Amino acid sequence: MQKKIFEATRIGNLELKNRLWRSATWLNQADEKGHLTSELITRYEELAKGGVGSIITGYAHVLEQEQPNAGMLGIYSDDFIEEYRPFVKRIHELGAKLIMQVCYGGSSTKFQTKGRLIWGPSAVQNPGYRVTPTRMKIADIKTVIDAYAQSARRVKEAGFDGVQIHAAHAYLYSQFLSPYFNRRTDAYGGSIENRARIIFETLEAVRQEVGPDYPVLIKMHSTDDWDANGLTPIESLWVAKELEKRGITAIEFSGGNRDFKYPLKKPIRAKILKREKQAYFFEATKQIAAELTVPVISVGGHRNFEFMEHILNDSNISYVSLSRTLFSEPDLPNKWMENPDYDPRCTSCSKCWSPEGNICILDRKKSVVHK
Ligand SMILES: Cc1cc2nc3c(=O)[nH]c(=O)nc-3n(C[C@H](O)[C@H](O)[C@H](O)COP(=O)(O)O)c2cc1C
Repeated sequence: MQKKIFEATRIGNLELKNRLWRSATWLNQADEKGHLTSELITRYEELAKGGVGSIITGYAHVLEQEQPNAGMLGIYSDDFIEEYRPFVKRIHELGAKLIMQVCYGGSSTKFQTKGRLIWGPSAVQNPGYRVTPTRMKIADIKTVIDAYAQSARRVKEAGFDGVQIHAAHAYLYSQFLSPYFNRRTDAYGGSIENRARIIFETLEAVRQEVGPDYPVLIKMHSTDDWDANGLTPIESLWVAKELEKRGITAIEFSGGNRDFKYPLKKPIRAKILKREKQAYFFEATKQIAAELTVPVISVGGHRNFEFMEHILNDSNISYVSLSRTLFSEPDLPNKWMENPDYDPRCTSCSKCWSPEGNICILDRKKSVVHK
């Protein structure tokens, strides 16, 4: 049976109207404490109206004092539960599912790095940001695991359709998986089993809070694509199979590294207009997905409708997720539904970021931004 982008599917209890996801995208429009603003709500409403089946929020911080970026959503306190309820309800009314991505950032940050406690698996300088974290003690690891579990409970109580653990893009859990960042010799370092332990323990703690059926997703790397001792597709497959056994609901595979020496190997790659540059983690993800029964979402450089459908039918990948194209054009799914040949206006220039709020550069002048 040919997979079609515009067909309904199910993941457990989650009914999805199409195979398109909005990959987590930090919009830098929450307030200083991580609370919603009207500008942020409008951005999500536009996405929901635009036809995407499932929206994953930008990364939300699980500990108040740990914030890798400005303007992120927060999920570090029970105070957020009531606040998020009407927001989730509104997105549901507009026809999309809403999943919250939760994250401890760590040393992949330029935000308020002076005097702030930044944890890492080991005290290894981040080659992308020049920040050296404090090596975590076992008690610190338990603190972060508990923060994820409590955040997941809040996400469920607020009515979100699921929670996604951020274990990609050289944030803390991605660093634990990476032999480059993780030089530990205790139970959390060394073998891939040990490097993945924090993630397995997090999934277990999350499941204890949200129960066996609630959608718990993870975003992780298919490959770090990094000569400097990064996570390989073989290790990634091993972790994914374990997560499958331990009750993960779906896995979104990204990849790449943030080492400044490898500018073409980033998770977010510029100038990917040509077909051969699109879907830049497809080969690694395809290899891994072939061995999994849990649904796989592919992210990274999807921009052509026909090519996305081709990818779905050339692999065991079930879904595709998009960040920059939807960032620039939230109604892209509706446009594709009318005309599958429609070419997104996003040029993958990767100039999405602005201190006044992350808004597509093509729209920035005319927008009112929160400050
Ligand atoms: C402005 C911006 C913010 C992003 N924020 C997040 C985030 O909060 N969490 C995350 O996992 N990925 C984040 N990403 C990465 C995207 O989810 C995605 O993995 C990457 O952009 C590749 O997909 P694309 O080619 O469709 O843009 C962000 C990307 C952009 C451009």
